[in-house]
Amino acid sequence: IHHFEYEQLLKGKRILVTAGPTFEPIDPVRFIGNYSSGKMGFAIAELCAKLGASVNLISGPVALEVHHPNVKRINVTTAEEMLSAVDYAFTDCDACIMSAAVADYTPLEKAAQKIKKSDGEFNITLKKTTDILQYLGSIKKNQILVGFALETEKEEEHAKLKLQKKNLDFIVLNSLNDEGAGFKGDLNKVTIIQTDGATTYYDLKSKSEVAQDIINTLIKYL
Ligand code: CTP
Ligand code: CA
Repeated sequence: IHHFEYEQLLKGKRILVTAGPTFEPIDPVRFIGNYSSGKMGFAIAELCAKLGASVNLISGPVALEVHHPNVKRINVTTAEEMLSAVDYAFTDCDACIMSAAVADYTPLEKAAQKIKKSDGEFNITLKKTTDILQYLGSIKKNQILVGFALETEKEEEHAKLKLQKKNLDFIVLNSLNDEGAGFKGDLNKVTIIQTDGATTYYDLKSKSEVAQDIINTLIKYL
């Protein structure tokens, strides 16, 4: 394939990508978050733009910048904000890649004032957030829907369950087990599982190379 043709592979396609963690507020100065750096989602967004797509990147709080002019970045903080931004952008996209590490739970209430310490233990009641990906799977029409899965045990079995339950086209299973891989750093080791059960194991590589493997899979669907 010629370089020029490769540059055009996603021309005219509208791709929705989510990235980063969500922060769920406890009080005005504290939150519940996770270690997601956003690097995987940003690498996917940049690559899609490079291939000619117009990209909506909905990002939780991360210390990253987008460089490509065809990436429109929308910043959100909480899972609830991510849900509304994604819901709005989903209707007219061709594919959605949900790489954000969305919080599963959020504090039932946000204290209006900074919570003061006191003796003894401190409890926060958490309520479940909406599973954004599962919601998208329930409303999708022709959109190609791609999810991620982070597992520490029975990885493939659990990822396959998510693939089915969320009505995805394929799922990217993140391996946290390998040295250097994970959602914090620059490297990632993934397995891609498709709806028909086709499973591809990839080596440990940089997140921009992993993005290429994911997009090569996506292109077959578009
Ligand atoms: N996800 C989402 N909304 C949530 C939680 C997760 O859209 N509230 C998406 C993630 O972006 C990811 C996929 O669901 O693409 C799987 O996330 P993961 O945390 O691995 O699985 P969960 O379904 O949340 O299940 P669990 O954390 O219990 O393993
Ligand atoms: Ca989760």
